[in-house]
Amino acid sequence: MRVTVVGAGYVGLVTAACFADVGNQVVCIERDPARLSALRDRAEVPFYEPGLSDLVRRNIEQGRLTLSPSIAEGLPGSQVCFIAVGTPSLPNGQADLSQVEGAATEIGRAMTGPLVVVQKSTAPVGTIPKVRALVEAELTARGASHRLGVVSNPEFLKEGSAIEDFTRGDRIVLGSDDPQAIATMRELYRPFNRNHEKIMVMDAASAELTKYAANAMLATRISFMNELARIAEAVGADIEQIRKGIGVDHRIGSHFLYAGAGYGGSCFPKDVKALAHTARELGLQAELVEAVDAVNQRQKLRLFEKIGDHYQGALAGKTFAIWGLAFKPNTDDMRDAPSLDLITALLQVGAKVRAWDPVAVDMARRLLPEHPALTFAADMRATLDGADALAVITEWHAFRSPDFTALAATLHDCVVFDGRNIWDPEFVRASGLRYYGIGRG
Ligand code: UDX
Repeated sequence: MRVTVVGAGYVGLVTAACFADVGNQVVCIERDPARLSALRDRAEVPFYEPGLSDLVRRNIEQGRLTLSPSIAEGLPGSQVCFIAVGTPSLPNGQADLSQVEGAATEIGRAMTGPLVVVQKSTAPVGTIPKVRALVEAELTARGASHRLGVVSNPEFLKEGSAIEDFTRGDRIVLGSDDPQAIATMRELYRPFNRNHEKIMVMDAASAELTKYAANAMLATRISFMNELARIAEAVGADIEQIRKGIGVDHRIGSHFLYAGAGYGGSCFPKDVKALAHTARELGLQAELVEAVDAVNQRQKLRLFEKIGDHYQGALAGKTFAIWGLAFKPNTDDMRDAPSLDLITALLQVGAKVRAWDPVAVDMARRLLPEHPALTFAADMRATLDGADALAVITEWHAFRSPDFTALAATLHDCVVFDGRNIWDPEFVRASGLRYYGIGRG
């Protein structure tokens, strides 16, 4: 099939490369000239995702994946066009649909034959009819009558395992009441739907809401555990024991029960806010969803509170080593990362920060304003030079088993703050360090 994917961001590039790899002819549209030429001329992926560079390079070299600067140039001849552009949060939590709407209009102007338009960017319920109306308005304006199918096909991939999630995900949700468009999508997804049936066909509104429901449910579990962690601390209980104790209950399950420094990333914070906003717009109050967001905002400063308590507020002039900047391991993504809140708060009270991350240091330099008290170390070990204390905020594998005796000898104040509960408190304490985790009373 000939497929166009609008947007070479996370979702777009993974979608384009995975469909190209199974033999489709895919054109990926990228408006940003620097990003476009890096991809087109050097097959350079603009973010870190395991395996994606090789996949993109192979498919470009073998001629199945091409890059184009515009829908007008890249769309003609395609049977399917994915919209995979950003839907960032507006200040009121609403999803900003301007990029989706812009793409729909350009698609209407550029399509030259029957087309299935697939909305893959996470967008609120009601976006599918909007996309249809915008494409149709352009068709009408130029007197064209090409057959148009519009399908919602939300994406459930996780950063760090995006290719695996795309090719071997739990489900493929298709939202449309157009049998012909669904048949085209079934054909396109056939290589990823071989061993057992993963395709779920539903109405567009349900498909759109499924995506928000999945992310809000997962975020709820995390905020719930973070709230419980506070209670555990107050009563002298250990959230890690509680996590195990409830996770074996099949009705609960063991995933997404990890208390920590709060959730970040491109999806949970934005989607939870957008769902709450949708509810408000409908005159409903999504009290639980609002609380999930509020608990998370507070949680992102939990480590800072613990540091402040330990030092009784006297943080000015202290130097903190920070391991981890990305919002989670195996990505350089720092959107809404708890590290940003922690570093900003430490700098505000006059502390010094030496930070390191296996892949996100460049991203951090771009996102954090230059500050004389903020430095990025060359490696994990060098982060500790001159540090009074260490805080770990991303659970990279490299941080799991440091030499605690060496840490105790290096850190002036002999104290560590474990924002992801990756260390065994007893073991750490036996090395002569003070240990603070999340919810470990
Ligand atoms: C998420 C969804 O999992 C994915 O299905 C959706 O398509 C996009 O959003 P992602 O943002 O890549 O994926 O990361 P995920 O692995 O889900 O983690 C999200 C955040 O929650 C991270 O900050 C992580 O550290 C945090 N988290 C996760 C916890 O704090 N505790 C947990 O138990 C699990």
